[in-house]
Amino acid sequence: MVDSERKSVDNQDDGEDLETWGGVPSFSEDAPRTSSPQPSDDEESLVVSLRPSRFDEYVGQEHVRSNLQIACNASKRRGEPLDHVLLHGPPGLGKTSLARIISSELGVGFKGTSGPAIERPGDLAAILTSLADRDVLFIDEIHRLPRVVEEVLYPGMEDFELDIIIGQGPSARSIKIPIRPFTLVGATTRSGMLTSPLRDRFGIVHRLDFYSHEELHRIVKRSASILGVGCDDGAAAEIASRSRGTPRIANRLLKRVRDYAEECSGGSMTGPVAAKALELLEIDACGLDRTDRAFLSLIIDKFEGGPVGIETVAAALGEDRETLEDVFEPFLLQEGFLARTKRGREATERAYKHLGRVMPVGETQRPLFSKD
Ligand SMILES: Nc1ncnc2c1ncn2[C@@H]1O[C@H](COP(=O)(O)OP(=O)(O)OP(=O)(O)O)[C@@H](O)[C@H]1O
Ligand SMILES: [Mg+2]
Repeated sequence: MVDSERKSVDNQDDGEDLETWGGVPSFSEDAPRTSSPQPSDDEESLVVSLRPSRFDEYVGQEHVRSNLQIACNASKRRGEPLDHVLLHGPPGLGKTSLARIISSELGVGFKGTSGPAIERPGDLAAILTSLADRDVLFIDEIHRLPRVVEEVLYPGMEDFELDIIIGQGPSARSIKIPIRPFTLVGATTRSGMLTSPLRDRFGIVHRLDFYSHEELHRIVKRSASILGVGCDDGAAAEIASRSRGTPRIANRLLKRVRDYAEECSGGSMTGPVAAKALELLEIDACGLDRTDRAFLSLIIDKFEGGPVGIETVAAALGEDRETLEDVFEPFLLQEGFLARTKRGREATERAYKHLGRVMPVGETQRPLFSKD
């Protein structure tokens, strides 16, 4: 890859819309729904200013945060690169933010790219050889790294050298190129799709979980104060409880509530104003939006509560399977609206209740493990 082709990704603000090496854009999602944890363009300025930049600004995930902080301090004191870090969990929980915090706490450079953007081994070689000593290389959606690229990454991660094969057939030979020690921070929404040789090369592995209402409340208050808007405890509580445990959604809802408050109620964000604004967005008291409810009602009304295969649900809803699995399901599963069995998805008693449907007699005693 020639230099003119290479686009630097330093100091980008969000992993999702990074310009990437080799000119391949990493993510170009359609504009997501208001309660989607996926980023949208119109929130960019919000994301830029609201992203925490130090550990002490990062709310929640105490266990992950304190472990990473200790590891960062120790490696900084020793003058060694931090061990490679793998962060996994649903979208919008703060993986990219943590990667950036790690680099700023270590006082080293940050380069970000994403798995599908690194198409050829040469692309990765160009990135790795350009890193400065102890830099953080962030690879988002690392499970989508092509296999041939992954194999070049192994010796890079382990021995800080590249094993490049030159030529083909009997005349092929391998040459080793040393690279500067670096820290790879990998992020994925699907750790199960990571190959085990890759997973084994990460010294630090953390799973991010959904945030509690109290943590989201703090995030909303912090974001409101950064944005310079008044948001009382009632409004923050309304937004927090409807954000599906996800900071990105909390920030997005805050922005929508602010719009509503400014346009329709003289600017002040109070509990009742927030509730009204969120109602208008069709986000219910549990944080479910229209698509979530369509998902659950489809299973209840058309498939007698399930089990039904995810492909069938995806086709009926006009969504792709991966989106359903990554974006919608984790929260519905965690909140007990949905059950995932070997035979497919089932609506739970809570889903019936939430949607005001009556669960057929006998369904509540559905066996946990069926014979087939
Ligand atoms: N712990 C936190 N404290 C405060 N704000 C947070 C926290 N985590 C995330 N945020 C906010 O949520 C936004 C989304 O976080 P981030 O981009 O890091 O998520 P992500 O896990 O990388 O998502 P994806 O999987 O979609 O890439 C950030 O811009 C930030 O404003
Ligand atoms: Mg990210």
